[in-house]
Amino acid sequence: MSANNSTNNHTYTPPSNVVCLPLTNQLEALLTIIRDKDTNRGDFIFYSDRIIRLLVEEGLNHLPVVEKKVITPTGCEFTGVSFKGKICGVSIMRAGEAMEQGSVRIGKILIQRDEETAQPKLYYAKLPPGIENRYVLLLDPMLATGGSAIKAIEVLLSYGVKEDKILFLNLIAAPEGIQAVTSKFSQLKIITSFIDQGLNEKKFIIPGLGDFGDRYFTWP
Ligand code: PRP
Ligand code: URA
Repeated sequence: MSANNSTNNHTYTPPSNVVCLPLTNQLEALLTIIRDKDTNRGDFIFYSDRIIRLLVEEGLNHLPVVEKKVITPTGCEFTGVSFKGKICGVSIMRAGEAMEQGSVRIGKILIQRDEETAQPKLYYAKLPPGIENRYVLLLDPMLATGGSAIKAIEVLLSYGVKEDKILFLNLIAAPEGIQAVTSKFSQLKIITSFIDQGLNEKKFIIPGLGDFGDRYFTWP
């Protein structure tokens, strides 16, 4: 089954630049484990990593390709494709670091939500040289109000990254965050594994999974 922008949230239809992973039995089971408050940190890491792999694979499916001819060991010419441009990952720290994959060049943007107001604050950005010529996988597991993602996208644009070369990969998205990001940026793509109901009064995603960064990096 291929991913499309039909949603797993039946009360919300996202814009066409949002791609939701198909809700297979596997994905639903993985999401259920990481949502469970009784899941220990080891399992939370293990099962989140499995969803992250699915997201990265889906992200790579959205990169453009160009024709490429190769010669196989049988001496035949085969006409296939290769990726059109180089990619890099940019994680929104701290939680986004959980989504870094070993093989791609990585940049980092440190943005933290104020715990009282939920307003994002930008502290630091270190991006690879030449990022303006690359496709960027922007990595953050949680899209709540959208404030952190919008700040991170603004940083990327200020470094010359083209908006249509940004793929924002995320585990759980709130409709509020999707609306905030897509109403400002219509050319990038959001790839998510699930669209939840919404936000609570503390701007946490519900049903959600709590604080992803705490559960991945610091819970006992
Ligand atoms: C979390 C999450 C996102 C942000 C989402 O990070 O990883 O970056 O909140 O919320 P928003 O859409 O309302 O901006 P947080 O600032 O809590 O820091 P952390 O990564 O250290 O947990
Ligand atoms: N950040 C998280 O880790 N979880 C939420 O629900 C919202 C922001």
